[in-house]
Amino acid sequence: MKIAIGADHGGFVLKQIIANEVRKLGHTIVDCGAKKYNAKDDYPDFARAVGAAIQRGDAQRGILLCGSGVGASIAATKMRGIRAALCHDTYSARQGVEHDDMNVLCLGARVIGDALAYELVRAFLSAQFDANERYRRRLNKVLQIEKENS
Ligand code: RB5
Repeated sequence: MKIAIGADHGGFVLKQIIANEVRKLGHTIVDCGAKKYNAKDDYPDFARAVGAAIQRGDAQRGILLCGSGVGASIAATKMRGIRAALCHDTYSARQGVEHDDMNVLCLGARVIGDALAYELVRAFLSAQFDANERYRRRLNKVLQIEKENS
């Protein structure tokens, strides 16, 4: 898959590590910045870039990092077609895709370590949406909320 990845200064170091691990898994990285460390950059800019890459079809999924992962997830979920969530346990990272069709995984680089981040990314990228009728029904309701509010 093509994976868009983005991070502000809070997630910058972990972003490089995760991008390398994602490449080792055989995926292609779409680098949405930051390309260099800037203590004054803002997480919404990278959330926007990752979301836009998915909206354009340049990437199928995204990984967003900031200090806590909270700001990144709030910003990304404002974008049409983006289903982003902060997951710091592997159950949610996998099930978020299987049940909810999550397409952006958000991570807090000041909260978790490299090894857990890698496990979370692996769980996220190896999962597929389960097309079970009840998951489709729920996803359609989510899409309806998005439509009503855009
Ligand atoms: C940046 O210092 C920090 O506020 C940001 O990375 C993130 O944690 C926001 O949710």
